Amino acid sequence: MSLAQRRILLGVSGGIAAYKSCELVRRLRDLAAEVRVVMTEAATHFVSPTTFQALSGQPVRVSLWDAQAEAAMGHIELARWAERIVVAPASADLLARLAHGMADDLLTTVCLASAAPLYLAPAMNQQMWAHPAVQANVACLRQRGVQLLGPAAGEQACGDVGSGRMLEPGALRDILLASFGTGALAGLRVLVSAGPTYEDIDPVRFIGNRSSGRMGFAVAEAAVRAGATVTLVAGPVSLPTPTGVTQRIDVRSAAQMHAAVLAAAREADIYVGAAAVGDYRPLEVSTLKLKKRAGTPLSLKLDENPDILASLSAQPAHPFLVGFAAETHDVAGYARGKLERKGLDMIAANQVGDGLGFEAPDNALTLYWAGGECELPRTAKPELARELISRVAERYRAARP
Ligand code: CTP
Repeated sequence: MSLAQRRILLGVSGGIAAYKSCELVRRLRDLAAEVRVVMTEAATHFVSPTTFQALSGQPVRVSLWDAQAEAAMGHIELARWAERIVVAPASADLLARLAHGMADDLLTTVCLASAAPLYLAPAMNQQMWAHPAVQANVACLRQRGVQLLGPAAGEQACGDVGSGRMLEPGALRDILLASFGTGALAGLRVLVSAGPTYEDIDPVRFIGNRSSGRMGFAVAEAAVRAGATVTLVAGPVSLPTPTGVTQRIDVRSAAQMHAAVLAAAREADIYVGAAAVGDYRPLEVSTLKLKKRAGTPLSLKLDENPDILASLSAQPAHPFLVGFAAETHDVAGYARGKLERKGLDMIAANQVGDGLGFEAPDNALTLYWAGGECELPRTAKPELARELISRVAERYRAARP
C-alpha cells in the first residue's frame, strides 16, 4: 500500500472532529502521500495550523489574502496541484457554502477552482445533520458528483447519540487509497455471504434466524471501497445491493448458500462468511401446508446442514477464510474454538442478546487469528465493516505475501 507521489489536499473546517484530521495527515504521510492542508478560519479555533504544518511538513494555508503565501503557491496553483480534495471534518456551514458555490474563503475557492474529485467527511451534531437544510445541501452536492463519506452513527462529542460522527482516519485513508486504485484489497476478489437462511417446513412456514444481513452487506461495501472485486451471496434480506458489488447471488436455504459459495469461492481470494447459516433443516419438506392438530404436540425431525466454512477449508486450494461467531456467552472461548475447528484464518466474534448484535444498527467485534487478537470498539456497522476489512487486508497480506 503506497500513496507515493500522490497529492492530497486536506481541507479542515470548524468542528471538534478537526483533531482527528491530525491523525489522518499522519496516516497519509505514513503511506508517503504529499499532503497540503487548507483550514477555514473556524478550524483554527479547534486545532492550530502549526500542528498541521508539523504533521504535513508543508505550510498550512488559511487566508485567501495572505500575499506571501499566494506568492509561494497561489490558490489556483494549489487547486491544480491537488489530485484529490478531502474536507474532513466538513461542517454544516461548509456544506452550505459549497452547495451554493460560494468562494468566500480560501478552502471554498480552492474547491471551486479544482477539477480534482472532492470528498467530504461531514461531522456535526446529529440534530444538525438531520436538519432538512443540511440534507438538501448534501443531496445537491451528491447530485453534482461530490462523494459524501459518512457520517457514522454513535456517541458524539456533545454527548448526543446519533448520526453525525466523522469517519475514523483509517477509514478515510482507505477510501483515498481505493480512489487511486491502490486500496488495501486492490486486485483481490472477495466473496461475502450475508443474511439469514430459511429452511422450509412447508409452503408457508420456515425455520429462520434473526440476521438482518446489514453487517454482511456493510462488509461487501467496505471491500468494494478497499478496491476489491466483490461477489455477494445473500440469504433472504430486503437490502439494496451496495454500489460497486460486481455480482449478487440470492439464495434461500443453507444448502443453496453452500452450493453458491462453493462455486463462487473458486474465483475468490478471500471469503468472509458473515451469513447466519441455519445449522439444521427439516428432514422432510411437506409439499402441502401442514394442518394444525389441536392438542397434539408437533415434532419436527431436523437434519444437519453442511458447514460452508468447514467445507471450504477442507479443500486443498481455498480462499483466505474469515468467519463470524455470534455468541451469548464465553465469546472468546467459542470463537477460538471455531477458528480452529473450521480451519479459519480469522474470526470476528461478537456478543449477542440484550439488544446487541442482530438487527441493531451498530456492533462491536473482537478479531482472533492464530497468535493474535484485536478489539474493534462499538460503532455503526458500515464503519465497523471498514475497520474489519482493513484488518482482514493486513492479515491476508501477512499470510499470503
Ligand atoms: N457457518 C457456515 N456454515 C454453517 C454454519 C455456520 O459456514 N452451516 C459459518 C457462519 O457463516 C459463521 C461461522 O460459521 O461465519 C460461525 O457460525 P455459527 O452459527 O456461530 O457456528 P456454528 O458452527 O453453527 O456453531 P454454534 O451454532 O454451535 O454456535
